[in-house]
Amino acid sequence: MTESNMETVLHENRVFNPPAEFSRKSHLKSMDEYKALYKRSIEDPEGFWAEIAKELHWFKPWKQVLDASEKPFFKWFTGGKTNICYNAVDRHALGPNADRKAVIWEGEPGDNRVLTYKELYHEVCRFANTLKSLGIGKGDTVAIYLPMIPELAVAVLACARIGAVHSVIFAGFSAESIKDRVLDGRSKMVITGDGGWRRGSVLELKSIVDKGVADCDCVEKVLVVPRNANGDRFDCDMRDGRDVWYDEAGKDQPDECPCEELDSEDLLFLLYTSGSTGKPKGIMHTVGGYSVYTYLTAKYVFDLQADDVYWCTADVGWITGHSYLVYGPLQNAATIVMYEGAPNHPDPGRFWDIVDKHQVTIFYTAPTAIRAFMKWGDDWVDKHDLSSLRLLGTVGEPINPEAWMWYHRKIGKERCPIVDTWWQTETGGILLSPLPGVTPTKPGSATLPFFGVDAAILNPDGEEVETGLLSIRKPWPSILRGIWGDPERFKKTYWCNWNGEYYFPGDGARRDKDGYFWVVGRVDDVVNVSGHRIGTAELESIFVEHPSVAESAVIGVPHEIKGQGLVAFVLLKGDDSEGSDALRSELNAMVNEKIGKFARPEKIIFCADLPKTRSGKIMRRLLRDIATGNALGNVTTLADPSVVESLKGKYKD
Ligand code: PRX
Repeated sequence: MTESNMETVLHENRVFNPPAEFSRKSHLKSMDEYKALYKRSIEDPEGFWAEIAKELHWFKPWKQVLDASEKPFFKWFTGGKTNICYNAVDRHALGPNADRKAVIWEGEPGDNRVLTYKELYHEVCRFANTLKSLGIGKGDTVAIYLPMIPELAVAVLACARIGAVHSVIFAGFSAESIKDRVLDGRSKMVITGDGGWRRGSVLELKSIVDKGVADCDCVEKVLVVPRNANGDRFDCDMRDGRDVWYDEAGKDQPDECPCEELDSEDLLFLLYTSGSTGKPKGIMHTVGGYSVYTYLTAKYVFDLQADDVYWCTADVGWITGHSYLVYGPLQNAATIVMYEGAPNHPDPGRFWDIVDKHQVTIFYTAPTAIRAFMKWGDDWVDKHDLSSLRLLGTVGEPINPEAWMWYHRKIGKERCPIVDTWWQTETGGILLSPLPGVTPTKPGSATLPFFGVDAAILNPDGEEVETGLLSIRKPWPSILRGIWGDPERFKKTYWCNWNGEYYFPGDGARRDKDGYFWVVGRVDDVVNVSGHRIGTAELESIFVEHPSVAESAVIGVPHEIKGQGLVAFVLLKGDDSEGSDALRSELNAMVNEKIGKFARPEKIIFCADLPKTRSGKIMRRLLRDIATGNALGNVTTLADPSVVESLKGKYKD
């Protein structure tokens, strides 16, 4: 956890009550109601979740709500058969909401597409039939590497419909990252696009995929979706026998396709995320519990109502896009907004232009974006009418109170509640958050646990403390089911503390006298850069592949816009401790190539030595002190104390 965060939130004591007008119309209206429901959800989780699950469609009812017999491999709604695509699309398309807008899409150049639930249903069916015609069926893994076009949501839903496991790869990842993920998940198909717009240029996704899958023996087909719906295509190489254009393969496919009746515990998707060791892990989520949890959290945290226009700015490539752009809101028959491009293209007013144009009522984004807007200046906001907004949300990293206040005043005009939602790829859905009609908010706090979430702050001995490690005592329906192919790593990462009784998310937090949680950041070697998780070990293992590099240590440091930035200390082979800009560029290029541009460090510092204990362990804590200019912590265990002084000088330079 970063000390500056800790300090800021320690002194924060402002409280904002939900506006009465908001509470009057919201699903949940009072703290008493929250407390009663929360109590019920903790005392009788099975009864609570069974009641909620009944609001969704099941082809066959479950036999058991929670099966904890193979703890920590929990199972929910066992014996039940359902399909999240049915709940997100068919239920509405075949009912009174058929003509309600499901997706309002805006391309970066300004083009728009709108799909009603009925249209979405037919698009998803056509896509699902195309997948089937290309040999994809239940249990096959399909990697998806698409820009933010409607077909990204359609492809995800089509996989879910036929029981194929989707593995979405954020379109900012490099060819090498695609390769790792495709091989690990044994993807039989990769769905990509001929291009997508980002800051006025076309991303050439297909050529990145070609490079990524060149050595992937498991890939049988690459399905290429044209970015433009009008028949225009961007040029790309197509390999005979493997590559197929979606507009050709899909055009004669029927627009009806039955939903596969899936077992509640069938795998729905894999989503790769970074941990403290080098290799990203494939987080597993299954159908039933994930459906129920994302449905309910979307309904209550975003207070979704029939006339809402809901915009979550996250890319579907991240968990936020999965749970709260696609599955959660669509299961609630919401109208979602999806935007293809950059927030500052053609100018920094773009997001507010979209809010105004599409009359967005609920807006969910990341603190890093908020800080960027603050920096770009209020004029860009003031040019647009934001009166349609009624609720704001944030996710991905701690929000500093200053950014929270700006969001509250400048975007919410002091009348929109803010829901600061804490959760993770692993949790599948929001675990800590205010409920907007209910919970008084405090800038920087994710406030209280959601229903069924038994959260506590513990010390390593399992005692409840004010400041310590965040832990969750009970399983909730969308808890990860494992790490793909690595059950031991699953147990070791999340269940290693407290005799395996509690889920350990890897975050440090504080709880105040009102029971509010203040999550301050990771306590492991994971850094949160602009809300993207990056394992420092991933970068370190890249750097040591360079022939001139002997060793490296990467740390996270506070960053004004990104929340955290990366700083790399690199020890060169031989006696060169100066390096060069050329070498720095080579190392940056390696990061681009192996992960993606977003993971590049802010600074690479070449050094003569690294601070180590006598047993040879790098003391990252001291590196963080050096980088942040803090007084150095305990140095008595250092093998060679002079190293630190020389690094301090280097860092300043
Ligand atoms: O450290 C926490 C931080 O983001 C981590 C999860 O990252 P990821 O799996 O990529 O999912 C991000 C979107 C859900 C957490 O371990 N985090 C997320 N939301 C918050 C947060 N930290 C503080 N406050 C939040 N609201």
